[in-house]
Amino acid sequence: MKILLGVTGCIGAYKAAEVLRGLQKVGASVRVVMTRSATEFIQPLTFEALSGQPVIVEMFDRPNHAVIEHIAVAREANLLLVAPATANILAKFAQGIADDFLSTVYLSNTNPVLLAPAMNVEMWNHPATQANLKILRERGVQFVDPGAGYQACGEVGVGRLADPADIVNRAIELVSNRNAQSSTDLSREHIVITAGPTVEDLDPVRFITNRSSGKMGYALAEAAKSRGAAVTLISGPTKLAAPANVETIAVRSTRDMYNAVMNNVADSTVFIGCAAVADYRPAQFAAQKIKKNGRQGITLELESTEDIIASVGALPNGNRRIVIGFAAESEALLNHAQQKLTSKNLDLIVANDITRNDAGFDVETNAATILRRDGSRLELPLQSKRVLADAVLDEIIKLRQAEK
Ligand code: PMT
Repeated sequence: MKILLGVTGCIGAYKAAEVLRGLQKVGASVRVVMTRSATEFIQPLTFEALSGQPVIVEMFDRPNHAVIEHIAVAREANLLLVAPATANILAKFAQGIADDFLSTVYLSNTNPVLLAPAMNVEMWNHPATQANLKILRERGVQFVDPGAGYQACGEVGVGRLADPADIVNRAIELVSNRNAQSSTDLSREHIVITAGPTVEDLDPVRFITNRSSGKMGYALAEAAKSRGAAVTLISGPTKLAAPANVETIAVRSTRDMYNAVMNNVADSTVFIGCAAVADYRPAQFAAQKIKKNGRQGITLELESTEDIIASVGALPNGNRRIVIGFAAESEALLNHAQQKLTSKNLDLIVANDITRNDAGFDVETNAATILRRDGSRLELPLQSKRVLADAVLDEIIKLRQAEK
């Protein structure tokens, strides 16, 4: 497996060395291309020593028709990965500007492209960057989205380079045979997926919600789409960009999500309830901001919300619809998941242990146990949510085979 690793100029450039090592650990041969500004942050020698291959920086830095020679090197790779990818390189890729070696390689490249952006939060949020991201996503370029937190510039927000381990996982998954072989194995399925949190408003400024980021549900949508399924993603509020070529319906409350599901599920062959849905909402919405008015405390009255997945499970099932739930539990994980599997009439449930800080809510990785209706189980060790999504989707294939 050959990977061309582009490194562009930002403070996260040093983490590209970790990405390189991670790729090598899983057997990849890595050739590095750096932009001139990347060399201000980390020396090419570092990557030459780690990769054992010359680093390409300039278009004309080797004799004998160097450009053609370099482009041949690029073509041999199974994947063009750029980590970190600055706002500048995203703009060049989106607009087709080829004024250095890396941007020239992108234009002449016919292999999958994976970008891990990193930049200041304002640059990330700028409409120009968001428009470039949209162009690239629509073109089929894949992303490992940046994380949120403190940035080198002192600001706080989205823009930090994703974890090197997640970048490696995603790269491997893109070039793995498995992806290539199974790229159409879900082409007969229409999969409706719920993702993210729901938000229950209390008054015009306050609400009840939870920590779901939508990452698990979006990973399922991307994986299902890449395996040929028609996908409808119904998402509570998240910071994630809609996956390319996936019909995405944005909702806020549980009632909105319930209505969107009921309007879209009739023709579906699979329903996956990955959303963290509020079980209760305020019984009354206060039209005006609730005032203190000298009170020492107040009591909120909550009422039950619609149980979306149980409602889907109760629908007439001429399509032999498969219904898959998720359970995020902080105690008695498998017992609680088993109860939900039975009481909601599910085909299987994915039990997340949310006491781990590297699984469940708002992280890139997950570890889970799949509980099937026949009592059998499958352990899924810690892995990227995108890889775990494929393991969940494999269960659909198994269930269909069992029907024959
Ligand atoms: O979004 P991320 O940050 O990536 O995190 C992913 C996740 C942890 C949110 C996800 O993997 C997950 O576990 N989702 C289910 C959370 C949960 O505990 O749900 P629950 O136990 O309240 O519900 C069980 C099942 O019923 C779920 O499939 C849920 O979508 C569904 N449900 C629940 C309540 C309700 N009113 N309607 C529903 O459909």
